[in-house]
Amino acid sequence: MRVNGRDARSIRLDEPGNGPPVPVIIDQTLLPHELRFVALQTADDAERAIRQMQVRGAPLIGATAAFGIALATRADPSDAGLESAARALLGTRPTAVNLRWAVRDMLDNLLLKPIGDREAVAFERAADIAERDVEICRSIGRHGGDILRRIAEAAGGDRSVQVLTHCNAGWLATVDWGTALAAVYDAHRSGVPLHVWVSETRPRNQGAGLTAWELAGEGVPHTVVADSASGHLLRIGRVDVVITGTDRTTRAGDVCNKIGTYMKAVAARDCGVPFYAAVPGPSIDWELGDGDEKSIPIEERDGAEVSEVRGMGPDGRVSSVRITPVGSPVANFGFDVTPARLITGLVTERGVCEASREGLEALFPEMVSRKDAAG
Ligand code: MRU
Repeated sequence: MRVNGRDARSIRLDEPGNGPPVPVIIDQTLLPHELRFVALQTADDAERAIRQMQVRGAPLIGATAAFGIALATRADPSDAGLESAARALLGTRPTAVNLRWAVRDMLDNLLLKPIGDREAVAFERAADIAERDVEICRSIGRHGGDILRRIAEAAGGDRSVQVLTHCNAGWLATVDWGTALAAVYDAHRSGVPLHVWVSETRPRNQGAGLTAWELAGEGVPHTVVADSASGHLLRIGRVDVVITGTDRTTRAGDVCNKIGTYMKAVAARDCGVPFYAAVPGPSIDWELGDGDEKSIPIEERDGAEVSEVRGMGPDGRVSSVRITPVGSPVANFGFDVTPARLITGLVTERGVCEASREGLEALFPEMVSRKDAAG
């Protein structure tokens, strides 16, 4: 997608010709104030980038981890070397399942290969995971865009479609396009008049800082609101549709996403507004069935993200300020689970389905296990 009028991706592989390929990320901790590209030279760099949230968003975490394994082959391509890098990467962020999916995919492929071939295979495989993510997101965009086009048609074309989103489920959270925002970009590029309510997404403000920055880059009309304004907007009829991303969706269609998603789904249901989650296949945890959503590990992060707010002062310097009394305890839960019953539909790369086991398995029949099919 576009940054300052130029196409960019959240992660790319630089192939300098006179040296080995180098993954390059955007340091998202500096946005929206500074756009800085950072080269990842080692698996430790990749691990740090995920842990410190220089890269974040479930699909991008997965792609970065894949490149992390590729970088590990450069230092120590032995089985032990790769398994140790995998352990370190898997320990970075517990909730998004794409991380586990990507690391497993890399190891499954690499451990079968002769040691001398591993580096080349690994970079090819990681680049392939990144490319596949782009295609998945482009396709989610087309299916989600259709939902927005239908809403626009029903509105008779005389007003903008009002979309409410949460956190950042845009191209910065994936390799390109995004998931929830891919629908917005697809519809916007096809001429649908729309406006996005951007929920700021405390405590790290991925909505205010990242989603607003992305939408501005693509020229999509938007307004940032406090998270607590979402219910009011829904009640007064200022939202046609809510679309969010997901970090892990169970086989039963329960969606784990950034903290605050559940409250939006509850309010949307109360107000009769459709609520969709954009779900890439690799974000589905097929190991979790009905009632298993409680076993999703909910990341608990540093309390300083709650007790402090980071931003740019009038002197142009970026710093953090404390907003709670010294000594007041804080808690920082990163994600919540929205039960399938509150979700109108899941927008996947293969189409839109009901948030249910039947819905997901109809779109991904290869994931119906033989035991399940028999029983
Ligand atoms: O903590 P983050 O910023 O990694 O959380 C990101 C989200 O919750 C996104 O909504 C989710 O990863 C889906 S993004 C395509």
